[in-house]
Amino acid sequence: MGSIEFSGVGKVFGQAGGGTKALEDINLTIGEKEFVAIVGPSGCGKTTCLRMVAGFELPSSGVVSVSGRPVTSPGPDRAVVFQQFALFPWKTVRENIDLGLRNKNLPKGERDKLIHGALQLMNLESHADAFPHQLSGGMQQRVAIARAYVLDPDVLLMDEPFGALDAQTRVVMQEELVRLARVNPRTVLFITHAVEEAVYLADRVAIMTRRPGRIKEILDVRSVRLRENWDRFQNIEDVMDLESFVSIRTHIWKSLREEKGPQGI
Ligand SMILES: Nc1ncnc2c1ncn2[C@@H]1O[C@H](COP(=O)(O)OP(=O)(O)O)[C@@H](O)[C@H]1O
Ligand SMILES: [Mg+2]
Repeated sequence: MGSIEFSGVGKVFGQAGGGTKALEDINLTIGEKEFVAIVGPSGCGKTTCLRMVAGFELPSSGVVSVSGRPVTSPGPDRAVVFQQFALFPWKTVRENIDLGLRNKNLPKGERDKLIHGALQLMNLESHADAFPHQLSGGMQQRVAIARAYVLDPDVLLMDEPFGALDAQTRVVMQEELVRLARVNPRTVLFITHAVEEAVYLADRVAIMTRRPGRIKEILDVRSVRLRENWDRFQNIEDVMDLESFVSIRTHIWKSLREEKGPQGI
């Protein structure tokens, strides 16, 4: 459960002929419990890819499947974490996490148990009754991740989830996500601008071309961890110094640079 497949996927926004061709012939298979990051220039269609897996957008051509079934609408097997945390400001942390569960028709006792587990998982227990505005950006994003995890989805879709955080908080959250991915592995499609983040977090990194976005290259970056005995390198700064990390990062940067326009944007 939880595999994702893009098969010959194209997307055109607006009228045929005069529309915007966002994606062209995307082919990508993400295995069960695999963590794949997509990097690519701004506007190349990364978010559109994610939205199609979520069921918010339909492809114009080709098929997007999850667990072997074509996606036609959103569903409880997929949870999304956005860059803007998308919390309800008038609800507490606990109530925000509870929101998704409400559709599941579980007895209150059962829901409370799940919420408690999610609060624990994200180190939020002491903030359960706080409102979002009382929390830092990092804490708010923890709530959004807890809200996604509590649904027990097969697939976790993350669209630049740490893009709005300051550098230090971002590192903490990256390390946290590595920990989560180990204790509670899911199929993850993770979109980011940050090359280091992609290499640090993912099993494979897909590089996209500029618009219309195609998959240019898919790199297996697991070797960064296996080769160097990952357990000795819990912290991102240790990993970032590894020769294997540096060479993959440089390769991705070069590949992305080729996709920039003449003005370098
Ligand atoms: N709902 C929409 N209507 C029209 N154009 C859109 C829509 N969503 C995205 N686009 C266009 O599709 C292209 C890809 O967008 P997006 O997937 O957001 O790129 P990225 O996330 O890589 O920055 C962009 O040119 C964007 O303007
Ligand atoms: Mg985007």
